[in-house]
Amino acid sequence: MRSEKDFKKLTILDEKEKLLRMKSKEVTFPLTEEDKELIERGIQELTYSQIEKYEKKYDLRPGMGLAFPQLGLLKRIIIIVHEVEDGKFDNYVVVNPKIISYSDEMIAAEEGEGCLSVNRDVAGHVKRHARVTVEGFNIEGQKIKIRAREELSACFQHEIDHLNGILFYDRIDPKHPFYTEQEVRLI
Ligand code: NI
Repeated sequence: MRSEKDFKKLTILDEKEKLLRMKSKEVTFPLTEEDKELIERGIQELTYSQIEKYEKKYDLRPGMGLAFPQLGLLKRIIIIVHEVEDGKFDNYVVVNPKIISYSDEMIAAEEGEGCLSVNRDVAGHVKRHARVTVEGFNIEGQKIKIRAREELSACFQHEIDHLNGILFYDRIDPKHPFYTEQEVRLI
């Protein structure tokens, strides 16, 4: 990861920006230097946001995922930093991600979802597939396939939604915003 002296907080678009409602375009390889730099910065910022010391020091909002449109670029690139155990993080960068299969079983985060572009609390459960398989390319342009489950699966679906102009609360049913355990498995 980049060294701390190179840390520079990203500018993340707010939900009011129309660009967040647009569909992003497929990316061609090689990636530009600018894009690679943004990916590195994204990994660093998402990681720091999940470590209390840095979260406080740089006044970050904790988040595990980011999609390029949130940085003002309509490119199909997502970044996810997942804490697998205390203080240990896995990161995923997927270019042109596609969900190629998913479970019928659905889950929802009990506390609801959040988004770095949504600076308010939105209450309600967001139904997601419990498991997804995502195909795409890594930063070098090699084909990759990722199987994700539970929280990570929900995160992939949330980030890929961003590439299609969808925000998490679009998926909250206004007539029935909260599910019971009988309706969907709450995680
Ligand atoms: Ni988001």
